[in-house]
Amino acid sequence: MLQPKPITRRTALGFVGAGSALGATQLSGLASTPAALEMSVQSAAYPIAGPVTKGMVSTSPDSPPPVIRLRQGVPFAADVTNLLPDYTTMHWHGLRVPNAMDGVPYLTQMPIAQGETFPYRFTSPDAGTYWYHPHCMTMDQMALGLTGILIVDEEKDPGFDADIALNLRDFRVRPNGEWLDLWTGRGAARGGTLGTVMTTNWRRSPRYKAPSGGMVRLRIAATDTARIYRLVLPGADGVIVARDGHPVRQEESFPTREQPLILGPGQRADLAIRMPPESGRIIEVQALTAGQVRLLATLESGGPSGTNTGKAFPRLVPNPIPDVNLASARLEEFVFGWSPDGNLPNNGLCGTLGYTFWSVNRIPWAGDAAQGTGALATFKRGEHVVLRLRNESPNAHPIHLHGLVFRPIQSNKRVLPSNWTDTAMLLKNETLDVALVADNPGDWAFHCHVIEHQKTGLAGFIRVLDT
Ligand code: C2O
Ligand code: CU
Ligand code: CU
Repeated sequence: MLQPKPITRRTALGFVGAGSALGATQLSGLASTPAALEMSVQSAAYPIAGPVTKGMVSTSPDSPPPVIRLRQGVPFAADVTNLLPDYTTMHWHGLRVPNAMDGVPYLTQMPIAQGETFPYRFTSPDAGTYWYHPHCMTMDQMALGLTGILIVDEEKDPGFDADIALNLRDFRVRPNGEWLDLWTGRGAARGGTLGTVMTTNWRRSPRYKAPSGGMVRLRIAATDTARIYRLVLPGADGVIVARDGHPVRQEESFPTREQPLILGPGQRADLAIRMPPESGRIIEVQALTAGQVRLLATLESGGPSGTNTGKAFPRLVPNPIPDVNLASARLEEFVFGWSPDGNLPNNGLCGTLGYTFWSVNRIPWAGDAAQGTGALATFKRGEHVVLRLRNESPNAHPIHLHGLVFRPIQSNKRVLPSNWTDTAMLLKNETLDVALVADNPGDWAFHCHVIEHQKTGLAGFIRVLDT
């Protein structure tokens, strides 16, 4: 019962072999499903640093992974075909999907081989800003480009005049467009290896038009493998309306230089911005990095005025998440720390960096493909729990849980808003309590979203029993 489900390539559910279209029986079973979005994971070329960089990874040969849009409560289908020689899977970060659709190799499905297609099928109960990325060969495929924004539109349109999505991430390329090492032992043992080129939607400082006087929904996703963003929008008239997909539960002050918007790897924020009424005015999205201000993107007012001129900031409807009964919740502790002498993990077909530095509960993750790895914790379906996350290391870790959402309730270091999230920043020496209702059965990956930390030990899974 406590062993991971044995999955073999032959028995893996839902595999569609190379070249064979969906069989007739499968088709009839999917009669109510809309046409599947075809996503082909493939090699791409793009001028990231100026000159064209080859060997990138996307879902088209010459453009970034597109923004995928689905609708809250409406079935979604994506057929992910792997055109790369390496294995892959696709994960829908932050979405509360059935476990078999979660895209975690060995835990929920077998890796997708070259020429194979995996049919992902799910319905999101939640609206908001999410993202997608592979969960196999991640330090290659994500670092080479495969991170895209996924938007789940609200059942009822919240009424913005414009919707602009910014996918923030770095690339490790030289000025001539050639790749540098994607990861380094030094970086993996510390905060992760930062890129050399900061991009927004794969471009450097793109400019987007927004209606003068209009209300813009600005969705910002930090999809980098390592960088923690500190963002400001000087002079902007705006509010934070959602964090990590979910509408904020308490008002937060708009980011300032003193208190920038912090987005760690995997995190998102939705801002409502009221554009200036005159055209030709600009709002800059800036990142504060060591001693520097970097321009990530510009919004420029222009064109016809929005219909929201002079109106209040729109409010978003909360997603249907059961709240936690803190009085009866069970406490589970997790310690995140260093692990100088762990065994090398067995990552099977999904890649290893070749060293182990990190651990959860003092044990480095035995690897994606390891036999007999147990769950870090097991909950009954519907159980109310508090996870106590304790950081014993001198680095910050964006701690991410699949399949469930949680909210911070207290920290030994700071006062923080108690918003629903899937990825929480755990600061140096911080102990953070987060609460959730374990209402989605399955084995849910639980890991640091600095991918070099995840791949060198800071990973595991939480089991929610289907009883
Ligand atoms: Cu965004 Cu386990 O991943
Ligand atoms: Cu995830
Ligand atoms: Cu980490």
